[in-house]
This record gives sequence, C-alpha cells and structure tokens, in this order.
Amino acid sequence: MSDKPGRRRFLGGCSALLGMLAATRSARSTGELTPFAPVMLVDQRDRPLNIGSLAVRTEYIFQYPFISTPCFLIDLDTELPGGEELSTKDGRVYRWGGGVGPRRSVVAFSAICAHRLSHPTRSASFIGYRPRAVGYMNSERKVSRRADVIQCCSEQSVYDPAHGARVLGGPAPQPLAAIQLEHRDDGHLYAVGVYGGDLFDKYFERFSHRLVLEYETFDVQAPVGETTRVMRGDEFTRHLVTCG
Ligand code: FES
Repeated sequence: MSDKPGRRRFLGGCSALLGMLAATRSARSTGELTPFAPVMLVDQRDRPLNIGSLAVRTEYIFQYPFISTPCFLIDLDTELPGGEELSTKDGRVYRWGGGVGPRRSVVAFSAICAHRLSHPTRSASFIGYRPRAVGYMNSERKVSRRADVIQCCSEQSVYDPAHGARVLGGPAPQPLAAIQLEHRDDGHLYAVGVYGGDLFDKYFERFSHRLVLEYETFDVQAPVGETTRVMRGDEFTRHLVTCG
C-alpha cells in the first residue's frame, strides 16, 4: 500500500513505530495489514469499552484511523472464524481475520462504501447494518433477501459482515476495508490497523471541505489518538436512511 501523508504523520517517532509493530505482529498473518498505532475503543464516558455491553446485531460507529473516517462495529452474535480469501478491486488478495471477543462475534469495517464512498455523517447515513431481512439484487442479478447485511442505499451495494464484508450484490467493486481488532487480556478492545482496499485518499480528496465543517477542524486527516469513542449508529446519525 502507498505511503500516504496522513499515515507518515501518524507513524512519526521511532518508539511509536516499534510499539506499533510489536502490537500488530500477530495481525499481519491476516493479510495486507496497514498498521496504525493501537487505539483503545471507549464508551461515551471515555471508559474502556466493555465488549459484553454491546447490543448484539446492532450498528455502532467509531472513528478510525483518522478523526473523520467512520467505521462500523457489530456483534453479529455468532462465531466468525474468518479465513475467507478476498480481493481488492486491483487484485490484491487478503484473508479476513474473523471476529474477536469471547465468542469471536465482533467485527469492524470501514463504513466508507467501496462504490462511490457513501458513508455515515452526523445528519444522514445511506449505508448501514440491517439486522432484518432486506431485498437486493445479488451478483448473479437475481433478487435475493437476507438479514445481517451492510447495505448502501446510494446504489444498492450489499456486503456480508460475517464474511469479511464481501460484496453480495450491487456495483461495489470490492469488500469494505476491514479493521483489525484486538481484544486483549485486560478485556479492552483495540483497533490496530486496516486491511483490504481502504479508500481514505479518495475520501479525503472528495469530502475534505465538508468534513472540515462536520468535524470542526481543518486537520480532518489527524489520527484519532489513543482512544476513540464508540456510539450507536442511531445516536451518531440523525437520519438513518433505509432503502425501502
Ligand atoms: S456509494 Fe454505495 S452503492 Fe454507490
């Protein structure tokens, strides 16, 4: 993956780099991981997130690896061993690492749609996790219906979060980028990297002007820091758009 300005800034400092590499050594086995310094997921009161407190089959949002890049966090309530071989639009193959937590049921993905970068904003979100069955056109152009998908209402791309957010239907050319999570012995949950096809450069190119207003800073590519807050999707976004 390319060495991008925001990442260079993030990776500055030898000690941070060494710590980061140590923390992500095991994660590299899952594929082409772009490592970032570990970020602890915290609740609304900035306490370490208790993974057991997540409502199952419910969409949560957190910002990672930059302050303006939203990700989904979902406990799918079923063991997800991972191992699926997936590929990016440009043909890079990677293996999805599966879920984390006591039941290996918790997953995270970038919430930036792989088609035209639709993503949750404070005012509205056209892309989201659907716990109930939704209809869509699958990759064989047949009408399908199923629950537990991430669906983008912009042009109807549908992803399967239980299998690395692979594309089930619609125009998306690759899965959502996966967030590497670590559930450590102390019970805390960390995000440590991104793998698959991340679209951060295009996202900043296209949306920086709006992001400056939304996040009230000119440095929308700043790293999230040591912690990142997790919010329910319906608290993060005022208007959750459904495709119906
Ligand atoms: S932006 Fe998501 S389907 Fe087009």
